[in-house]
Order: sequence, then structure tokens, then C-alpha cells
Amino acid sequence: MTTQEVQAARRMLDAARRVVVVTGAGMSAESGVPTFRGEDGLWRNHRPEELATPGAFQHDPKLVWQWYRWRRGLVAACEPNAGHRALSAFRARHPETTVVTQNVDGLHQEADRLEGVGPAVSPVLELHGRLFGDRCQGCHRRTEANRTPDPDLDATLPRCDDCGDLLRPDVVWFGEGLPRSVLETAVDAARTADICLVVGTSARVQPAASLPLATTGAGGTIIEVNLSPTPLSRRARVTLRGPSGELLPELLGP
Ligand code: OAD
Repeated sequence: MTTQEVQAARRMLDAARRVVVVTGAGMSAESGVPTFRGEDGLWRNHRPEELATPGAFQHDPKLVWQWYRWRRGLVAACEPNAGHRALSAFRARHPETTVVTQNVDGLHQEADRLEGVGPAVSPVLELHGRLFGDRCQGCHRRTEANRTPDPDLDATLPRCDDCGDLLRPDVVWFGEGLPRSVLETAVDAARTADICLVVGTSARVQPAASLPLATTGAGGTIIEVNLSPTPLSRRARVTLRGPSGELLPELLGP
């Protein structure tokens, strides 16, 4: 990666009318949130089908809850990194930018708060739900989760105050559909964007991995920021190899 490539990408962003930004776990890696498929990734030590599927929850809800409570504790101690902050500051200056994330950690929203992103900016689209939300599997009521889970709760299962059915984390598991209106808004944003900036995703999980192709299919271009090549790299006009916490401030800074 050279300064020239960053400068070329900056010029493209300057000239763009609409930008969509698709982010994945690499975006939060420098905040201390583990990725899924990296060397220390969550899927190196755990099998997704034992923890992140409706079947896993039916089979052993305590095990699934223990894992999500562990992740909540871990993420609650993390803060947005310089990449999140640069992206939020960019959106404050370019409110027509849409962020679509596969991350459930809420760090984009926290960065928006820190950077004073106002109501003119469209909210971050969370394709895979949110870690700090609970949802009743009976009546589907959504509630806020406690940010600092009580370890004593590990032996218990949380229940809905309204109907008494089991609560589950408000995330999307493998084998489940994405929230429809969120996905539709994301596809629309990708189709109408001149540039899709793809940050820190292995681009292996659908339908998120196809969003950048909606941009190129409509005549737009891809800029990729990632430590390593991905299936999208060969379709990108510019690929910036390096950590997003360092590259995004250079790319998106004023
Ligand atoms: P992955 O763990 O599959 O990929 C992370 C990507 O980030 C890799 O391509 C890394 O090279 C890159 N990366 C790591 N650190 C980086 C850094 N500091 N700067 C830039 N790039 C970096 O994570 P996702 O692609 O987000 O879904 O995974 C997609 C989905 O798979 C997740 O949302 C989750 C998972 O299973 C569900 O749980 C439904």
C-alpha cells in the first residue's frame, strides 16, 4: 500500500455523490474485539453450529447464553478505535453516506456519539443484529441487555417479563433470515452508491458479501481496506492493505 493509492482513493471519495461503507469484524479488531476467521478468530475455537444457530439454542440454551454473556463482557470493555472515529467524522461531513455493518458490537454507534454525529445522518444498518439486545422467542418483544452481565447469571436462563418465555440474544444466527427492512435499505444504498468502501470483512458470509457487487453492478466502484486479500479484492478498483485503524483516518480525514 502506498500513499499514492490512498490519495487516489481519496480523490475518488471526493468526487463521489453517494458512498456506502460495508464493515466487518476487522473494523473492530484494533478495539480488541476478536474476529471470526483470523488466527485468534472465534470460529477457530468454537463451532458456529454449536453456538450460533437456532438448533444450538434449542439443544443447549445455557451454553449459548454463557458464550454471549462472555462476548458481552468482552465487548463492553472495548472502545471505538481511530477507524470507527474517522468514519463517524466523515459521515458527519457527508451525511449522504450509509454504513452497513455485520458487526453486532455497537462500536460504530458509540463512535457516532463521540464524534457528535447528528440526526441528519442515517443510522448505522446492523445486518446481523446487536449483541446488547435481548429478544423474547415467544412474544418477540425486544429489550436492552445489561452491558455488564452478572457472572452469577450463568447458571440461569433469562425470561421475558411479559410472557415468561425464554429470551435470546437479538442477533442473527446461521440459518436465519436477516431483518428484511434493514437488508432492503442496505441493498438500496449499495445500488445507488458511486463507491462501496469495504472494510475488514472476509466477504464470505452472504448476503453481506454481495452488497459491494450491487454497487459494481450499477456502475459504481469498490475500494477495499483489509489486512489480507478477499474474494472481493480482484473486483476492487483500489485495495488498501493494512489496519483500518490506521488507514481510515488517512483515507477519510479532512
Ligand atoms: P471475519 O473474521 O470472517 O473476517 C475479518 C476480516 O477482517 C479478514 O478479512 C481480516 O483479514 C480482516 N482484518 C482483521 N483485522 C483487520 C484490521 N485491523 N484492519 C483491516 N482488516 C482487518 O469477519 P466478518 O467478515 O465480519 O456472522 O464475518 C462475517 C460474519 O461471519 C460475522 O458477522 C459473523 C460471522 O460468522 C454471524 O455471526 C451471523
